[in-house]
Amino acid sequence: MTDTYYRYHVFFCTNQRAKGERCCQNHDAKAMRDYLKKRTKKLGIVGKGAVRANTAGCMDRCKKGPVLVVYPEGVWYTYKNQQDIDEIIAEHLQNGRVVERLRIDN
Ligand code: FES
Repeated sequence: MTDTYYRYHVFFCTNQRAKGERCCQNHDAKAMRDYLKKRTKKLGIVGKGAVRANTAGCMDRCKKGPVLVVYPEGVWYTYKNQQDIDEIIAEHLQNGRVVERLRIDN
């Protein structure tokens, strides 16, 4: 595999749509993004060769949302709470194992 600057690059959709329309921010996406950023920093796994998390706009997966995607694998996840984010961190970002129960179809 080609070396990438970040080992894992995580994109969080935090898009807010008009009231009533389905979107990731209706599921507290910004707070979850902040939580992942804080946890990965605390674990010392951020930066070059490690994890980078960025905010994204709508990635057109709203119906399956809230969503985030982890590259370079291009694995899409949904989540419900901080425990789900913890599991993605511990399994995927620290051990390279896909969390199948949170994965959504490509
Ligand atoms: S609002 Fe998140 S994918 Fe569309």
